[in-house]
Amino acid sequence: MNVLVIGNGGREHALAWKLAQSPRVTKVFCAPGNTGTALVGQNVNIEATDFPKLIKFAKENDVALTVVGPEIPLVAGIADEFQKAGLKVFGPSKAAAELEGSKVFCKELLRNADVPTADYRVFRSVDRAVTYLREREDVPVVVKADGLAAGKGVIVCANRAEALDAVERIGRQFEFGDAGKQIVIEERLDGREASVLAITDGQTIIALPAAQDHKRAYDGDTGPNTGGMGAYSPAPLVTPEMMQWIEAHVLVPTVHAMKRARRPFRGVLYAGLMITNQGPKVLEYNVRFGDPECQPLMMRLKSDLFELLLATAEERLDQIDPPEWDERPSVCVVMASEGYPGKYAKGKPIRGLDEAAKVPDVQVFHAGTAAGPDGQVLTDGGRVLGVTAVGSSIPQAKLSAYTAVKQIRWDGAWCRKDISDKANQ
Ligand code: AMP
Ligand code: GLY
Repeated sequence: MNVLVIGNGGREHALAWKLAQSPRVTKVFCAPGNTGTALVGQNVNIEATDFPKLIKFAKENDVALTVVGPEIPLVAGIADEFQKAGLKVFGPSKAAAELEGSKVFCKELLRNADVPTADYRVFRSVDRAVTYLREREDVPVVVKADGLAAGKGVIVCANRAEALDAVERIGRQFEFGDAGKQIVIEERLDGREASVLAITDGQTIIALPAAQDHKRAYDGDTGPNTGGMGAYSPAPLVTPEMMQWIEAHVLVPTVHAMKRARRPFRGVLYAGLMITNQGPKVLEYNVRFGDPECQPLMMRLKSDLFELLLATAEERLDQIDPPEWDERPSVCVVMASEGYPGKYAKGKPIRGLDEAAKVPDVQVFHAGTAAGPDGQVLTDGGRVLGVTAVGSSIPQAKLSAYTAVKQIRWDGAWCRKDISDKANQ
């Protein structure tokens, strides 16, 4: 059977790589893809938001399942459009994707479902938000734009002055565009973060092993926020007992609340959690695999990804065996372009990919790459590669990943040197 993966990042290369290993999959198409997805399948030059063209392509090429990577097409309703056209799709409907597309919707659902999350208030008027901040005690808060803002619409504030500035930026200067029409102001939580992803068909919930992202650009969790500079799985912070608690008190009530709200959730439910002194609390939901969390997870998945995703799309997850995971941990180190997450140049030739691929237990997932002349691979984004390894322990997987990283060079390449060190803290 043929599969179509939508997107062009490291997550999509990891998904396409794993789908191509399924004995039931004949061909993996990726739209628009990158040079990594072209190694395991065929790239299709259609943008992730061009639904009519994607649907036409899927019909003409006997695509049995479409797997949507990024949030933008999901929030724009790609799953609904595919289903209307009689095509099977892995990913939530537009109504269900609001869990990521609107922080106000997400917070209200969490509150109604009694799922632990930071206390919050919603404001539709900047003046009201300013009055609220001036009148309340001067405590750290987090100010969030309601809508999608490429992960940037969240401003963590140490005090009132910073919060007032954040409200101005979101609500009056519209730094994040229409995403700032509503503003959430919430209590700032302290603790350590972890990501718990689950696959659900709206009824059965399969939690995946916990993973840990590294959102800040520089070592020691300093510098600006990024899409994620590396990840590892499992996350020892999330013990088996905590995982059970998260399933019972976070995942199950959320999936049930979505069903009650007539927005049944099918796809990946990704809980960004803060593990506080009072236990895990939800920071946000995403409605897709995390990038780069997907890369270490796919390295550890032993079962057939196609079976799992097709069963989700067909709402029969209760009928398949639970997925099996490699016991060995996995670490993904993101190599980025000079200047990222700010401005960066593209088109730098990448050297050493073949040498890196020879390091045992390593996969180099491409993210921002494009094909150049004479078989060259060129940089084409901020996050360029996700060098991912499995190992007998987290330090061993880290060593293998960085051994491969050392083989790869381009003008301006850099990465964090401390990915996975927090696993040992
Ligand atoms: P979000 O997109 O909501 O996950 O926010 C991005 C990042 O902002 C999170 O990964 C946290 O590091 C931080 N953050 C969001 N909400 C809070 C909160 N209530 N307290 C502390 N940090 C937060
Ligand atoms: N790595 C965080 C995300 O995918 O949103």
